[in-house]
Amino acid sequence: MYKLGLIGYPIGHSSSPWIHEQLMKQQGVQGKYDLLEIHPDKFDEEISSLKEKGLDGFNVTVPFKEKIIPHLDAIDGSALHLGAVNTVKNTENGWIGYNTDGSGFVHSLKNRFPDIFQSGSKALLLGSGGAARGIYEALTGSGMDSVDIANRTIGRAEEVIEQISSRAQAEALTLAEAEESLGSYDLVVQTTTVGMSPNDQQTIIRLNRLTKGTVVSDIVYRPMKTKFLKEAEINGARVHYGHEMLLQQAVYAFKIWTDTEPEALPLLDEFEQKLK
Ligand code: ATR
Repeated sequence: MYKLGLIGYPIGHSSSPWIHEQLMKQQGVQGKYDLLEIHPDKFDEEISSLKEKGLDGFNVTVPFKEKIIPHLDAIDGSALHLGAVNTVKNTENGWIGYNTDGSGFVHSLKNRFPDIFQSGSKALLLGSGGAARGIYEALTGSGMDSVDIANRTIGRAEEVIEQISSRAQAEALTLAEAEESLGSYDLVVQTTTVGMSPNDQQTIIRLNRLTKGTVVSDIVYRPMKTKFLKEAEINGARVHYGHEMLLQQAVYAFKIWTDTEPEALPLLDEFEQKLK
C-alpha cells in the first residue's frame, strides 16, 4: 500500500490525485495519493511532521520546489543543477529529490513531434522561472542545435544559460528580439505566467512572424487552449498543450516511486475530457 501525495500552496484544484489514481489502476498498484496543502509560513515545521508520516513519496509544486531542498538527504543529478525538485522518494537512505518536469516535457513533445528533434533544429524558450530551467536543461540534451531564452528581465535568461550546463548553443534575448526573429525557430515554448488567469487576454509576444509548421507549446494547462496557443494556430503552428507535459511528469514520478512502467497515452483522452 503506497502512501503518496502532493505538497504545495494552493493545491485544491490539482489534477495530480486523479492522474495518480489512474496510474495505480493501470499498474495494479494499491495506494493512496493525498493533497497535503502547507501554508508557506509554516513550511519548515510542517515538513518535519511530514517526515513522521512515513510517506513513500510525494510531489512538490509551487512555491516549494526550491525550499524543499535543505530537507532532502540526497538529490538526483539533474535536479541538483536545476536547484528545483518536484518529486521526492522515501528510501532507506532518506528522502531523495528528483525533477521530472523537463524530462516529462521533452518526452511528451517527442511523442507528438519527433521531426523537430534533429540537428539543425532551433528552440526558443519564453521565460526564466523554475519551469523554464527544467525545460531548458532537458531540451539542450535532446538533440536540438540551439535553445535560446527570451525573458522580460534579460539578466535572468543570462543566468539560466550561465548556470545550467548545456550541449546546445544558447543566447539570451529580449522579448522584442524574440518577436523579431521568431520565424527562425522550429519550436517555441511559453513558460511564463502571462495568460494564466482566465481574464488575461495578453500573450507574452506577438506571433505573426511564425513560420508555418513551427511547433508551439504552452506549459499552462488551464485553460487547455490558452490565448497563446490560439494565436499560434491562427499563424499556422502545430500546438502542444500543457496537460501533455503534466501527465508525463506524473508518469515519471510514479515510475520512480513504484518501479513500474506506467504509460501516459492511455489516460490522455479522459484527462482532456476532464479539463474541458
Ligand atoms: P515559475 O518558477 O513558476 O516558473 P517565476 O519564477 O515567478 O515562476 O517566473 C515567472 C516567469 O514569468 C518569469 O520569466 C517572468 O519574467 P521576469 O523574470 O522578467 O519576472 C515571467 N513573467 C511574469 N509576468 C510577466 C509579464 N507580465 N510580462 C512578461 N513576463 C512575465
